[in-house]
Amino acid sequence: MKLLVCGGAGFIGSNFVRLRLAETDDQIVVLDKLTYAGRRENLADLEGNSNYLGLVHGAIEDAEAVAQAAAGVDAIVNFAAETHVDRSIAEPDAFVVTNGQGTYTLLEHARANDLRYVQVSTDEVYGSIDEGSFTEESPLKPSSPYSATKTGADLLVESYFHTFGLPTSIARGSNNYGPFQYPEKLIPLMILNALHGDPLPVYGDGMQVRNWLFVEDFGRGIGHVLDHGVPGEVYNCGGPDECPNIDVVNRIIELTGASTDLIDYVTDRPGHDRRYSLSSAKLEGLGWKARTHFLEGLELTVNWYRENATWWESIRSGDYREYYERQYGRSLGS
Ligand code: NAD
Ligand code: TYD
Repeated sequence: MKLLVCGGAGFIGSNFVRLRLAETDDQIVVLDKLTYAGRRENLADLEGNSNYLGLVHGAIEDAEAVAQAAAGVDAIVNFAAETHVDRSIAEPDAFVVTNGQGTYTLLEHARANDLRYVQVSTDEVYGSIDEGSFTEESPLKPSSPYSATKTGADLLVESYFHTFGLPTSIARGSNNYGPFQYPEKLIPLMILNALHGDPLPVYGDGMQVRNWLFVEDFGRGIGHVLDHGVPGEVYNCGGPDECPNIDVVNRIIELTGASTDLIDYVTDRPGHDRRYSLSSAKLEGLGWKARTHFLEGLELTVNWYRENATWWESIRSGDYREYYERQYGRSLGS
């Protein structure tokens, strides 16, 4: 197959491209706007792989860029999105454009060219759950501008199946972690702050629970949906373990040798979802299963950040500092 991977220069997209090139004969072209979260470096090791056809720099809401990048492809897998809940609270506009208009533009291209279409989505579309786990039949109840725009995108994708017969599928993942994750999200932020002796900002009481999924497991899950998913269907793809945020932070402290004195309880995120939990029984019925347990994957991830300082040094010294100051009301240390 020849695939167009949108958002392939970001965290999950770049891991997916690497995995898919290693495990299949697919050819892959990437379309990415290269926002603060998208980086050419994330794909640099794939240059020279003859099945990697390169990166087109453009936005998914730009129909011409989509048509150029999608020439001759059989399928589109869409990772491209604005993805950080805190940024969606501070500045929602880009979320509406990319997650809404961008998804629409890709669907229109897929419809005009009879392409298979896989949308990468999130457990956050279901909202928060106190007990038990969400199935694909659970009602959609997003809380943040991020999850609301992802929900809108999912509904549009489903409408293209029902109305036009477009062979779409949706893969909804739980919280991912692993190499190449931009350090605005909990795990890489805490790892880098711990390594630098900077405060570790825990929102609220730190007892919010996330269902952690190693990024390679999600990559294989999305590949599974692409290869075996039934058009018109949604597939949840959850991690094997759940963990309260404060336990995640304490484990990072142990792995980095930092001091627990760095823990700093800060004002809670507005509208903060308490717990996410996905049942993946439907995708497991198709033969997918998460392979990596959280404690193992977290150690791999801490080691990756330790060994790849050149990757994050340029981030920590750039615009990220301003973002950090705005978000946390103080500067980064060293
Ligand atoms: P990311 O922020 O690391 O990457 C997003 C990528 O999309 C970047 O390369 C960025 O440059 C690109 N992009 C942004 N706007 C674009 C536009 N208008 N046109 C083209 N490219 C654009 O995000 P991620 O964590 O890799 O998430 C990828 C996908 O997976 C998203 O759709 C997200 O909603 C979904 N998801 C993420 C998680 C998670 O825990 N991170 C969990 C479940 C689902
Ligand atoms: P995040 O990585 O932003 O993912 P999401 O909001 O999509 O789940 O946050 C994961 C959890 O960690 C969430 O409960 C918010 C919390 N959190 C903190 O306590 N401190 C932080 O600095 C960040 C970024 C997140």
